[in-house]
Amino acid sequence: VNITIIDRDGVSHNIPAPTDMAMSIMEVVRAYELAPEGTIGVCGGMAMCASCQCYILSENVPLPEMLPDEDAMLSEAFNVRPNSRLGCQIPVTNELEGLVIELAPEY
Ligand code: FES
Repeated sequence: VNITIIDRDGVSHNIPAPTDMAMSIMEVVRAYELAPEGTIGVCGGMAMCASCQCYILSENVPLPEMLPDEDAMLSEAFNVRPNSRLGCQIPVTNELEGLVIELAPEY
């Protein structure tokens, strides 16, 4: 599935993300080294660190509902916007075709 990820330097990357490997958006960012090691996915994808926070820029791509863990983490995180999500809580599926996200600043 094709997704666009804008890194923390503002560079846009169009990524062919695999849908058959049970990856999350956070893991795609790591696999393509779009953020320095140790600055994303710090908690291993448990919705406990917010290092994978991203802003959803596309409006018509369906995303999974936010679960309580993600909601709670985002309520404590920095730089949160109305379109913030945790990348580790979004599995890569075919529904994400055309998704555009921007990585939130590192903190
Ligand atoms: Fe820690 Fe997503 S990797 S909240």
